[in-house]
Amino acid sequence: MTAPSREPAAARITVADLGAMAARGDRLVMLTAYDAPSARLADEAGVDILLVGDSAGTTVLGLESTVGVTLDEMVIFTRAVVRGRRRALVVADLPFGSYEVSDEQAIESAIRLVKEAGADAVKLEGAGASLSRARAIAAAGIPVMGHTGLTPQSAALQGGYRAQGRTAAAARRLLDEAVALERAGCFAVVLEAIPPQVAAAITGRLRVPTIGIGAGPACSGQVLVWHDLLGLLPDRPPKFVKQYATLTDVVRRAVDAYVDDVRAGRFPDPTHTYHMPADELERFETQLRDRPTQGARRGGDDSAG
Ligand code: KIV
Repeated sequence: MTAPSREPAAARITVADLGAMAARGDRLVMLTAYDAPSARLADEAGVDILLVGDSAGTTVLGLESTVGVTLDEMVIFTRAVVRGRRRALVVADLPFGSYEVSDEQAIESAIRLVKEAGADAVKLEGAGASLSRARAIAAAGIPVMGHTGLTPQSAALQGGYRAQGRTAAAARRLLDEAVALERAGCFAVVLEAIPPQVAAAITGRLRVPTIGIGAGPACSGQVLVWHDLLGLLPDRPPKFVKQYATLTDVVRRAVDAYVDDVRAGRFPDPTHTYHMPADELERFETQLRDRPTQGARRGGDDSAG
């Protein structure tokens, strides 16, 4: 019996690979993804890390912030992304409320994302109590990524969505937090919305890679949100976003054309239609004539009465 032919499996990127890539100066590319088709496209383009971000709350679920995203929702998004990837490492965000209560809660949530959803690693935000959570998750054998600077889950405490680390004291705090996250066992740390000099100082002092978003070019890698990169949202993106396309315009034009075509009877045309062999069609039409349906009876031309 011959074995079914299979495409050769692409070598999966591991956490160790990312460390080695950063150490030799390769810039790491991370991009968010929330579904299988976008994960596949990003993976095929060579993205190293697919982040199933809780930004799904605002980009996909229509929420005002990421705070309302649930662990169940993250499991669904993560499963879809895992189905679409071949090579990239999949990191899933621990959403707000899934790790704050205790180390045990953090481990249980991380296990769900890895075991049930198939993530390779998880990410959590902040330092403080998050250091103990990161340590506990790493000790349970699950790779964990840290996230400091602007941390959207606690934006209310940070005075809104604003850049962090803009005073010497605040910059120093961020550096200490990043070092503490590394010591807690994080394999990489996201730096969000901080001055480039602060990101450079942190990157220079950590052994693990840093991934920047609004943190300048000195980080070991960069991350963008899928919808920001593609211009898929109606609002103006944050200052740190480079928008590589304006897909809202493309989508609007396409959907407008579809609406016009349907209303005008231009769609579907014969190229979008299934055809019947001529003899079968003739038989069908004869049947309709000879044995009218109930609908025809209702019309009065075959009343049984
Ligand atoms: O949720 C997310 O997309 C993130 C990135 C912006 C880093 O955390």
